[in-house]
Amino acid sequence: MMGAAASESAYRVLMGVLESRTGQTLSPNRIWRIEMSLKPVMQRHGIADLDALVAALVTSNSRQLLDDTVDAMLNNETFFYREHSVFDDIAKTALEYLHRVNLRERRLTIWHCGVSTGQEAYSMAMLLAEQDSKWAGWRVDIVGTDVSYHAISRARVGLYSQFEIQRGLPVQRMVRWFDQTEAGWLAKADLRRRVDFSVQNMLTDRPPLGGSADLIFCRNLLLYFSLPMRQKAFARLRAVAAAQSFLVLGAGETVLGQTDQFVASPRLRGLYEPADQQVRRPDSSRSIAA
Ligand SMILES: C[S@@+](CC[C@H](N)C(=O)[O-])C[C@H]1O[C@@H](n2cnc3c(N)ncnc32)[C@H](O)[C@@H]1O
Repeated sequence: MMGAAASESAYRVLMGVLESRTGQTLSPNRIWRIEMSLKPVMQRHGIADLDALVAALVTSNSRQLLDDTVDAMLNNETFFYREHSVFDDIAKTALEYLHRVNLRERRLTIWHCGVSTGQEAYSMAMLLAEQDSKWAGWRVDIVGTDVSYHAISRARVGLYSQFEIQRGLPVQRMVRWFDQTEAGWLAKADLRRRVDFSVQNMLTDRPPLGGSADLIFCRNLLLYFSLPMRQKAFARLRAVAAAQSFLVLGAGETVLGQTDQFVASPRLRGLYEPADQQVRRPDSSRSIAA
């Protein structure tokens, strides 16, 4: 249902802008929120309503206005240790497995695609830091990317409100890894230096870490893509995945009927592997599944 205040064509243009810039399509239950999401942008740029916003986008050529508009329509919902059992399982199984298969190179690379404001990548960074003795002498890279420049600037700063810090983060970790400041809870330098964040559209920009990511998180992003976009996204994820690697999706997401590039891991419940990994895995007889 379109909002009453703006013309249908304004909504159509805005949805088209979002899709062309990010691949995201707005489900009907998110369309009604467009006006509310864009209110702060319109206020900041002195624009009266959605029709005027569309006119300004078309005529002004303002990069800032375009970025702000797209950013405001994205769903950046995230929190620390979201679906915490996923992190527990990864700590017990995937990291054990990757430690064993990468032992010679001593290198572990983790990509958080669609990392939003950073909580997911910091969750992994804290978990790995607490296993420091296991990874001593290893090169561990954690990279977080997102199409939203606003989300990535927040992730880089690592400053969270009282509400955000309490969502999913156990108190011991909060105290160990964050400092309470007047502005909110600030990730300590020792945590921030463990993650690299950059702005990137996963559908069009050159993927980071080509062919070398051991663990890829792409959670709660693909569900906003149409099937063809999702298929393209899986192909991009596959291009980044190391020969022996795992893909982590959100709770409501699957590869079934979506792609033949990844399959459900036969050894690690809830994770996915590149489809050709099954054939290429030199130690495929070994299993670490509980
Ligand atoms: C709902 S959040 C999920 C954040 C985190 N992965 C989680 O599960 O908590 C989805 C994120 O995907 C990002 N996103 C959407 N389209 C994208 C694209 N084409 N490339 C990169 N990031 C994208 C959004 O900006 C948003 O921050």
